[in-house]
Amino acid sequence: MKAIVTGGAGFIGSHLAAALLSSGARVTIIDNLSTGRQSNVPEGAVLHALDVASDEAYDLIVHERPEVVFHLAGQANVHKSMTDPVYDARTNVLGTLNLLTACKRACAAKFIFSSTAAVYGSTDRDRLTESDPVSPVSFYALSKWFSEQYIHLFAELNQLPYTILRFSNVYGPRQMPQGEGNVIPLFMNQLRRGQPIMIHGDGNQTRDFVYVGDVVKALLSASLLGRGGTYHVSTGQSISVNELAQQLIAIHGSDHPIVHTASRAGDTEHSCLDNHKASQELLWRPMTSFDDGLREAYAYFMR
Ligand SMILES: NC(=O)c1ccc[n+]([C@@H]2O[C@H](COP(=O)([O-])OP(=O)(O)OC[C@H]3O[C@@H](n4cnc5c(N)ncnc54)[C@H](O)[C@@H]3O)[C@@H](O)[C@H]2O)c1
Repeated sequence: MKAIVTGGAGFIGSHLAAALLSSGARVTIIDNLSTGRQSNVPEGAVLHALDVASDEAYDLIVHERPEVVFHLAGQANVHKSMTDPVYDARTNVLGTLNLLTACKRACAAKFIFSSTAAVYGSTDRDRLTESDPVSPVSFYALSKWFSEQYIHLFAELNQLPYTILRFSNVYGPRQMPQGEGNVIPLFMNQLRRGQPIMIHGDGNQTRDFVYVGDVVKALLSASLLGRGGTYHVSTGQSISVNELAQQLIAIHGSDHPIVHTASRAGDTEHSCLDNHKASQELLWRPMTSFDDGLREAYAYFMR
């Protein structure tokens, strides 16, 4: 298989690129290295340091004629989206549209998009399904939601097969503190430096943490199944930020101070995504326990 992975020098994209190479695929990466690192790119993948919204990225896809485009590049920092919504929209919305038009020209067989739980905004519901209403509270979430809408219409008008995956909070080795769902690497950095763990708000806010290895398996399943659908890639379990901090301190093995600070604009309070649709239609379910995944991430950050 010939695959293009946008964002392949980033956290999730670099794990995906490695898995694709192991399965025998030819992998081309488009990544402008704004948050990604060249050192994340696995051996065997070809990196093109380009902006996804550029003419050069468009031309590359047309030239390569990939079977599948996994679109993971993006402005993934909620707080940056609040201070620079134009940059966020240019990268996330126009970048996606540019890739869609290139996929059409290249007759790509599949477009897979990485969306986010953040599209739902703040909600009191225990566990959200894909048909629940969206209500973005950040420009990042809004740009992902607009991208989803562009994909639906573009695909319908141009018969482009696609799958949209809404990830909950992804974590694991190589995650960087500046991205979405960054609370785990931030806490790891604070532990490593001997600084107090800083929790925004009271820490009762919850997240659904899914391990990056499981997310890669969902992306691979989506390349074969789930045409035209939107799926949650999540565990369906919620963990509070206070519980996360306590679990990390237990793995670290020593007493560690915790400090609570003001909550931040754009953050959602509770987030937990039902994953039954993905288990039924993509034949995917998360296999990594939170304790095992957290220990893998801890070993990476403390290496
Ligand atoms: N990490 C999470 O918890 C999470 C949750 C939901 C959705 N997502 C989405 O998954 C995708 C991957 O996230 P990640 O955590 O690996 O983030 P990341 O920041 O590690 O990776 C994103 C990559 O995209 C690249 N990039 C950014 N702007 C670009 C541009 N204009 N052109 C080309 N490359 C560009 C960056 O250099 C980086 O390598 C993102 O689209 C993000 O919105 C992530």
